Amino acid sequence: MPVENCRTVAFMDESHALIIGGTRGMGRSLVGRFLKEGRAVSVVARRPPADQEQLDHQLTRYWQADITQPGLLNPILSEIVRDRGKVQSLVFLQRYRGEGEAWEGELSVSVTATKNIIDFLSPEFVEGPGGSVVIVNSNASEVIVDEQPLGYHAAKAALLQLVRYYAVKLGPRNIRVNGVCPITTIKLESQDYYLNNPDLMRLYKKMIPLGRLGTAEEIANVIAFLCSKEASFLTGQNLTVDGGISLRGHEALARLLKT
Ligand SMILES: NC(=O)c1ccc[n+]([C@@H]2O[C@H](COP(=O)([O-])OP(=O)(O)OC[C@H]3O[C@@H](n4cnc5c(N)ncnc54)[C@H](OP(=O)(O)O)[C@@H]3O)[C@@H](O)[C@H]2O)c1
Repeated sequence: MPVENCRTVAFMDESHALIIGGTRGMGRSLVGRFLKEGRAVSVVARRPPADQEQLDHQLTRYWQADITQPGLLNPILSEIVRDRGKVQSLVFLQRYRGEGEAWEGELSVSVTATKNIIDFLSPEFVEGPGGSVVIVNSNASEVIVDEQPLGYHAAKAALLQLVRYYAVKLGPRNIRVNGVCPITTIKLESQDYYLNNPDLMRLYKKMIPLGRLGTAEEIANVIAFLCSKEASFLTGQNLTVDGGISLRGHEALARLLKT
C-alpha cells in the first residue's frame, strides 16, 4: 500500500526510477542522487523511511510491501506504473536482515524476489530511451566474507548470472541489465562505527589502493551512471567497486600489513 502521509504529485515522464529497498543504506543515498537529477522516484520497502524529510519530497513516493509476497506485491507494482508512468530505471538494493533461517531468507529476498519483479515489470519499461536494471551485489559473489552466512554468498553468486541472463533476454527490448559489486561501504547507519574505529580505518588505508572505504554516495554515483544514457551500450556486466583492493595478491597483502 502507498505510504499515506507523503505529498504526491502526478509525475509521469520517461525518467521514472523504481528503487527496491530505497529507504535505508545505499538505497536511501540513491534516492537522493536521482532526486538531484530531477527524476520521479518510487520506492518499495516493508517500512516507511525513518525521517519526514524523505517522505515530504515531492518527486518521491513510498510504497510499503514485502517483495517476497508476489501475490501482494504485483498489484502494487501495477499501481506504481499506473500512477507514475512506465519504468526507466529499476534498481535492487534490498538486503535480507530477517530473524529466520538465513539460507531461505537470502535466496528468497535477493534472488527469487529480484527475478519475479524483473519478470513482472519488463513489459512496463519505457520504449524510446530504453530501460536499465541495476542489481546491487557484493564482493561476496566472488570471495568468502567470513562474517556472512553461506546463503548470502550463494545468493550473491546467483545474481551474477541473473544479470547476464537477463541482459541477453531483455537486450532486444532495449533494457540493459548490470550489477554493482561493492565491498564494505560507509552509509549513514554505519558511519559512526567506522569513524570511531581509527585502527580499522588505518588498516583499510594500507590495504585499499585508493586508501579508504567508499561511501554509499559513491555507489549511488555508479548506479546513476549505469542508468544513464552514457552507459547506453553497456549491459550484462557486474562492476567491482572496491577502491582496487581485489587487485592485490593475498600474500603481498599479508607482507604489506606486517610492515
Ligand atoms: N552495506 C554494505 O557495506 C554493503 C557492502 C557490500 C554489498 N552490499 C549490498 O548492497 C545492498 C544494499 O545494502 P544496504 O546495506 O544498503 O542494505 P540495508 O541498509 O539493510 O537496506 C535494505 C533495504 O531493503 C529493504 N528490504 C529488506 N527486505 C525487504 C523485503 N522483504 N521487502 C521489501 N523491502 C525490503 C529495507 O527496508 P525494510 O527493512 O523496511 O523492508 C531497506 O530499505 C545489498 O544487496 C547488500 O548486500 C552492502
